[in-house]
Amino acid sequence: MTSNTLIHGLCLALMSISISACAPDNKTTGFWQEMRQQVAINEGKQRTGEEVYQYRCRGCHGKNTQGAPMPGDRYEWQRRSRQGMVVLMEHTLKGYKQTMPPRGGCPDCSDAELRRALDYMLAQDELQFSGKAP
Ligand code: HEC
Repeated sequence: MTSNTLIHGLCLALMSISISACAPDNKTTGFWQEMRQQVAINEGKQRTGEEVYQYRCRGCHGKNTQGAPMPGDRYEWQRRSRQGMVVLMEHTLKGYKQTMPPRGGCPDCSDAELRRALDYMLAQDELQFSGKAP
């Protein structure tokens, strides 16, 4: 192989890498599409807070994705919990700041299940709220 063909080959390889990097939408995980789908809310057996956390919240909150407060991060949860449970629950249901998805990314979770998942995260810092789900 001459050095010319080698360089030519290299250029082609680089071109195809940069083209695929620019192609829109072919690397999406489908997460936000999934969030927009209408799915039935679970009316059957209610999952525990820990189950819901493992099922949906941990994906982001377990590794601080885009600043998602991790269970056990007392500073973050204390700061946020000062808003009160009604506001925290509202942010869980409606989503928050474009990074926290509505219903915590669990469109099939019932309000009560989401409240339990929130309680579960707060409980890691011994922060507790009593009372009914708003
Ligand atoms: C796609 C990632 C993602 C998933 C999944 C997710 N969260 Fe979040 N959540 C975030 C991020 C990011 C923030 C921080 C937003 C900010 O303050 O900028 C956040 C913040 C929150 C807050 C604090 C809101 C406030 O007012 O400070 C609560 C409560 C919360 N999430 C609950 C949940 C629950 C419950 C689940 C699971 C049912 C869940 N989240 C799943 C990304 C996620």
